[in-house]
Amino acid sequence: MNSFTKNILITGGAGFIGSHLVRLLVNKYPNYKIINLDKLTYAGNLDNLKDIEAKVNYKFVKADICNQNELEKIFNEFYIDNVIHLAAESHVDRSISNPLEFVQTNVLGTVNLLNVAKNKWNLDTDNVFYHVSTDEVYGSLDDDGLFLETTPYDPRSPYSASKASSDHFVRAYHETYGLKIKISNCSNNYGSHQFPEKLIPLVINNILNKKPLPIYGKGENIRDWLHVVDHAEAIDLIFHEGKNGETFNIGGHNERKNIEIVKLLIQLVDIKLNRPEGDSLSLITYVKDRAGHDKRYAIDSKKLNQQLGWTPKYTVEKGIEETVDWYLKNMKWVNNIVSGDYLNYYENQYVDR
Ligand code: NAD
Ligand code: DAU
Repeated sequence: MNSFTKNILITGGAGFIGSHLVRLLVNKYPNYKIINLDKLTYAGNLDNLKDIEAKVNYKFVKADICNQNELEKIFNEFYIDNVIHLAAESHVDRSISNPLEFVQTNVLGTVNLLNVAKNKWNLDTDNVFYHVSTDEVYGSLDDDGLFLETTPYDPRSPYSASKASSDHFVRAYHETYGLKIKISNCSNNYGSHQFPEKLIPLVINNILNKKPLPIYGKGENIRDWLHVVDHAEAIDLIFHEGKNGETFNIGGHNERKNIEIVKLLIQLVDIKLNRPEGDSLSLITYVKDRAGHDKRYAIDSKKLNQQLGWTPKYTVEKGIEETVDWYLKNMKWVNNIVSGDYLNYYENQYVDR
């Protein structure tokens, strides 16, 4: 054993949300050891965690959640007693081009991890397996209504089908073997360190470089935006105070049409770069719609608010301005990433990104 009160394995900790969660927990809980397990795919980046990498309660391990032997060794070596599982293939467009990769990581990888946790742990202890999931499992909303924890699953993309499947396996391990579990289903995140294939960082980067801003369809699809730090704080709260076996929806009550978000980004970036007002509007380029494009996501997070007292701290306006500032100051981080061949996945299906 060691002197830490918990030894928490965070998978996918070198990615966007994972790195914010690792930073929060390492700084807030010096008595916890945080073990960050990540395969470092195109989306994983250890530069995201430079500020905490030397802390004594932090350890990075490069490993694949699909590899049972590697996982068993890590559970033994670090006395893992809790898991917060974020590692996944996370981009919907990539899942359309390559669904099997999503089944491999998101479904088989999750079941592999569940199995190792079940076999290594004494299930009478309080050890928790927490799965970080998405609102996309609930499908697509029309103009009205909100996703509740009781909304039936209706995934419509290979990505959301893989996440729905992994949620079902997590619940199955709870019901069948008594594994203690928690699940949260969250809406669209934004903030620093997000890979520039997702709408907000892609658009910021393209405005800076005067490249086309690809808008799928008419830009009228709606997403419910949540700042990544609000998400990390919600995970911390649910991990500590959520009841065993429960699901919590996490959302920002910040519904916006895609085109509204893009215009807000144009306004902010043009001002910050001293370009004439509206200069970058001409970059807007309507392109072929995403196949099976979900129309609207909107989360009801009343349960999380009423049971655990969580509310998001960021408004979209404040959060997006801070995010723009971060990208403007960190173009080296972006350029290091986009200089690779990550765009090969897209088979050039939309426009020159
Ligand atoms: P991301 O793509 O930025 O990061 C994923 C991380 O997982 C990367 O560091 C990658 O290297 C790692 N990874 C991938 N395959 C792996 C494997 N086989 N073994 C070990 N590590 C592996 O993703 P993100 O946006 O930070 O999302 C994190 C989690 O949160 C995902 O499970 C995603 O489904 C979920 N989620 C994301 C959002 C969002 O808006 N981004 C919203 C709700 C839920
Ligand atoms: O809702 C939570 C989900 O949000 C997470 O589970 C996913 O991991 C995360 O990637 C995100 O999925 P989306 O598909 O909603 O995010 P994305 O940034 O890819 O797209 C946001 C919206 O913008 C969507 O309606 C598609 C549109 N879009 C996206 C891109 C990349 C465009 O119009 N043009 C683009 O170039």
